[in-house]
Amino acid sequence: MSLRVEGLSVDHGQLRVVHEVSLAVSPGEVHAIIGANGAGKSTLLRAIAGLHPPASGKVLLDDVDITREPPERRVPRGLAMVPEGRRLFPSLTVRENLLVGAHKARPGPWTLEKIYELFAWMPERRDQKAAQLSGGEQQAVAIGRALIANPSVLLLDELSLGLAPIVVSQLYALLPSLLRTGIAVLLVEQDVSQAVRVATWVQCLLEGRTTLEGRPSDLTPDQILAAYFGLTYG
Ligand SMILES: Nc1ncnc2c1ncn2[C@@H]1O[C@H](COP(=O)(O)OP(=O)(O)OP(=O)(O)O)[C@@H](O)[C@H]1O
Ligand SMILES: [Mg+2]
Repeated sequence: MSLRVEGLSVDHGQLRVVHEVSLAVSPGEVHAIIGANGAGKSTLLRAIAGLHPPASGKVLLDDVDITREPPERRVPRGLAMVPEGRRLFPSLTVRENLLVGAHKARPGPWTLEKIYELFAWMPERRDQKAAQLSGGEQQAVAIGRALIANPSVLLLDELSLGLAPIVVSQLYALLPSLLRTGIAVLLVEQDVSQAVRVATWVQCLLEGRTTLEGRPSDLTPDQILAAYFGLTYG
């Protein structure tokens, strides 16, 4: 299933923070949105998930216009998000947090058991409260909660935020097997080198506008740096 965003603009009150952004992600692709703090990356992702109504533009899943659908109607259509900061319920257990994602889930390969196979430490800690987990473990639960909905389009917001490099590598190592199942991934990442490593397409946002995009192999580090910080040379 493909995600397409056409000319999406999103406001916070009087302030426009996303300006006519367009993108497309197909199964097996990883589309990375990069950009500095405040560039509008999370706002864009939240608007795609239906958590923030856009001012104009369209969100389409396989050519079906879902721009006006509430988030809970997008989940059964195949859209799931791992939000910035994980957003687990701290007083619920690991298992209960995972089952939150199963609400309105589509049928598919991901079940509680499959999530427990993916993260080997999880089964024996399923009854622990989320608040007692490390940051990396919480991120794993947030990923499991999204996968259990059996999405065909997965939105990932700052997977690496606040995590040790080794943990980030472990989480990103999951991507290839997900992609082989035909998932399309749209990810937001502040760690540019990580984004460039995993992405099939990179799109740089600066103050809510696309300043650069392309296949990682076609972009130079200087171009990316300039687009990221809004520098112009010469
Ligand atoms: N709830 C809100 N109310 C008002 N303004 C907001 C709100 N959330 C974000 N903003 C503003 O919108 C702009 C974009 O914020 P957003 O969180 O989308 O950026 P971001 O690229 O995800 O940044 P970061 O890398 O820090 O997560 C910023 O100027 C921010 O201050
Ligand atoms: Mg953000």
